[in-house]
Amino acid sequence: MAMIEVTPISDASIAAAVKRLKSGDLVAFPTETVYGLGADATNASAVAKIFAAKRRPEFNPLISHVASRDAAFELGEETPIATALSNAFWPGPLTLILQRKASSPVSILTTAGLPKVGLRVPAHAGAQMLLEAFGKPVAAPSANPSGKISPSNVNHVVNGLGESVGLLLDGGPCASGLESTIIDCTNSKPRLLRPGGITREAVATALSEAGLDPAITVAKPLENSEKPVAPGQLVSHYAPRARLRMAAEARQHGEEMIGFGPIHGAGSLRLNLSPSGNLIEAAANLFSMLHAADATGSAYISVAKIPDTGLGEAINDRLRRAAAPRPD
Ligand code: TXA
Ligand code: MG
Repeated sequence: MAMIEVTPISDASIAAAVKRLKSGDLVAFPTETVYGLGADATNASAVAKIFAAKRRPEFNPLISHVASRDAAFELGEETPIATALSNAFWPGPLTLILQRKASSPVSILTTAGLPKVGLRVPAHAGAQMLLEAFGKPVAAPSANPSGKISPSNVNHVVNGLGESVGLLLDGGPCASGLESTIIDCTNSKPRLLRPGGITREAVATALSEAGLDPAITVAKPLENSEKPVAPGQLVSHYAPRARLRMAAEARQHGEEMIGFGPIHGAGSLRLNLSPSGNLIEAAANLFSMLHAADATGSAYISVAKIPDTGLGEAINDRLRRAAAPRPD
């Protein structure tokens, strides 16, 4: 296998990345949420390389990333909810699920055969440069092996996928570290498919400021055995190798414990998601601390209780999935 090339973002590296995308190869790139594993969304064989590299079940569709709102609404049908949310949060950590347009060139493999398409306009300057230069949608899941922890810096990508990706654009650590909030805009009420970088409260506020009903329905996570009708809802999805225990008050024997606020971390690393109890800081640290705790080789990880408000909802969602019993 070829070695991965890790290169800072520059005009030259963006041009090299575009060349690879055009020839159907994979490029890993930063966004403000997590690193993405990108391919030309209109090229099925390029997209297939993503599933292969991630060993990802093909029923799980991929988000198409574009540089602007206009480019997004060429691919999916705009709805009043989509107008309001895209005005409020794009570019940014929000993914909208829309009916795919008949004219959309996005490969059916990208949407895993669904009549709907997931669209995102990321804010990260490097991602924007890449998307503008490429000029077509880039399909990109998080750049991690399927079912593993999402990558919030280049080392996570190199360690997880270094053998199967040729080029990795280095944009430094991701500012948010939590994936985008996903909202299905195809019904009369918006449906929250995945909590993420934009809080449910902020979504409700944007809806009412646009004169729309702020009520949001929430998709329930499915059991592992069920076929995901709302994909991305597999319960055990963010699994570290170690078993994980939530809402820990103190370290139990054999655990690498990750603290939060006044509850200290314990074990070999004494990690704390945010000593001051700041949920934004905790979200940014979440995946890298789970990676670090997992890398100690400890069989058990515990995490202190995180409040379920604001970004805490998305953090607890990820932790619940990581803690869920899994079929292996
Ligand atoms: O922040 C993010 O969203 C990152 C960065 C790279 O953009 N991407 C990301 O992609 O987290 P991924 O593939 O790891 O998660 C995307 C989720 C999946 O759970 C998938 O099932 C869901 O989005 N999704 C994508 N298209 C969909 C569709 N048409 N209908 C329902 N769910 C969809
Ligand atoms: Mg992912």
